[in-house]
Amino acid sequence: MPSERLLPEHVAIIMDGNGRWAKSRRYPRFYGHVRGVARVKQIVTASRQIGIKALTLYAFSTENWKRPEQELNVLWALLKKYLRREIASMKKNGIRLRVIGELARLPGDARQELGRAIEELSCGKDMELTFALSYGARAEITHAVRAIAEACASGAMKSDQIQESTVEKYLSTSYLGEWSNVDLLIRTSGEKRLSNYLLWQCSYAEFDFPETLWPDYSVEEFKKSLENFKNRNRRFGGV
Ligand code: IPE
Ligand code: IPE
Ligand code: MG
Repeated sequence: MPSERLLPEHVAIIMDGNGRWAKSRRYPRFYGHVRGVARVKQIVTASRQIGIKALTLYAFSTENWKRPEQELNVLWALLKKYLRREIASMKKNGIRLRVIGELARLPGDARQELGRAIEELSCGKDMELTFALSYGARAEITHAVRAIAEACASGAMKSDQIQESTVEKYLSTSYLGEWSNVDLLIRTSGEKRLSNYLLWQCSYAEFDFPETLWPDYSVEEFKKSLENFKNRNRRFGGV
C-alpha cells in the first residue's frame, strides 16, 4: 500500500467498459452494468479503508442520455438497488454521499432514493463519496459562469473580484474545499479521454489508464493505480 504521505487525497474514476465486458462474454449490455455495480461497492470500501479523503465516481454523463431507453431504465434501477443495499454499511464506515450533475433530469423515484441516501449519510466524516450523475463539466462551468454573471449584474460582486477561488466556489464540487482538485484520475477500459469529466478539477491531476474493463477492475488493480501515483513526480510547474 502506498505510504500515507503519497496517498492521493481526491481520486476520480471514469468507470468505463461495462458494455464491452458484457459483449466479450456474449451477455446483454445490461449485465455489464450489473457486474460494474459490484465493483463500485468494492472500490468504495477499499478507498475508505486505504484512507482516501474524496472519491468521485463518473456513473452517468450528460452525453449518456443518448443511450436506448431500455439501458437507461436498467441503470436507474441498479442505482436505486445499490443505494438501498449499501446505505447501512456506508453509514457504518463514515461515508458521506453527494451527487453532482443535472439531477432534475433523473426519474423521480431515483431522485427520491438519492435524497434519502444523502440525508441518511449526511453525518459521514471519514470519506466524501460523490456520484457524478447526468454530469458534464461544460454544463457545470457554464452554470458557474452564469451564476457569477448574475452576481455581478445584481451588484453583489465586482468583475475584478473574480478569482480562481471564486470560480471554485461556484462549481458543483465546492463542498470538497481543499480536496476539490483531483490528484489522481483513473479511467478503466483503455480509453484515454476525459469525456467531459471534471475539466477544471483535473487541471493538475495525474492520469492512469488501466486497460482492464470496469467489471474486472479489482481492488488489487486499484492499489496498483495508487502505487503508480506514488511514483509520479508532481512538479506543478516548478523544477
Ligand atoms: C460505463 O460503461 C458505464 C456507463 C457509461 C453508464 P459503458 O456502458 O460505457 O461500456 P462500454 O464503453 O460500452 O464498454
Ligand atoms: C463516460 O463513458 C461516462 C461514464 C463512464 C459514466 P462513456 O463510455 O459514455 O464515454 P465515451 O462515449 O467513450 O466518450
Ligand atoms: Mg464507455
